[in-house]
Amino acid sequence: MTGTISLTINGKRHDLDVSPDTPLLWALRDALGLTGTKFGCGIGACGACTVHIDGIATRSCGMPVEAVGDGAVVTIEGLDPDGRHPVQQAWQELSVPQCGYCQSGMIMAAAALLRDNPDPTEQDIRDTITNLCRCGTYHRVLSGIVRAAA
Ligand code: FES
Repeated sequence: MTGTISLTINGKRHDLDVSPDTPLLWALRDALGLTGTKFGCGIGACGACTVHIDGIATRSCGMPVEAVGDGAVVTIEGLDPDGRHPVQQAWQELSVPQCGYCQSGMIMAAAALLRDNPDPTEQDIRDTITNLCRCGTYHRVLSGIVRAAA
């Protein structure tokens, strides 16, 4: 059953004709064409689908759109209008991605971490960033977050 669900995405209100139990990930990708948010596992394990809801890093594959309510959703497309968020700049400077597939989720998780903790220790980063990367870019992800925090 579909119906109109109203969501705030990247600062704009959208009325979507989707089922209330549609995962936010698929509403973003299929209904809005915001394909920067990726599907990896679909069970909340990998983090490829990470977005922010009211500033909190959230895995969108397990979040039904009806549960988002009035939460402000920000995707990688809305993180910075010019793609110049400090995390994005650090990612470019250090060539963090390899294949790149998981990196929008990594960047969103890193941006949320730095919002809450602008000067994280290496252990804070390891404890918080649990996103998976099949290319194994973890060392560069860590360096990128340290660079972005500086
Ligand atoms: Fe959502 Fe893997 S696709 S956590």
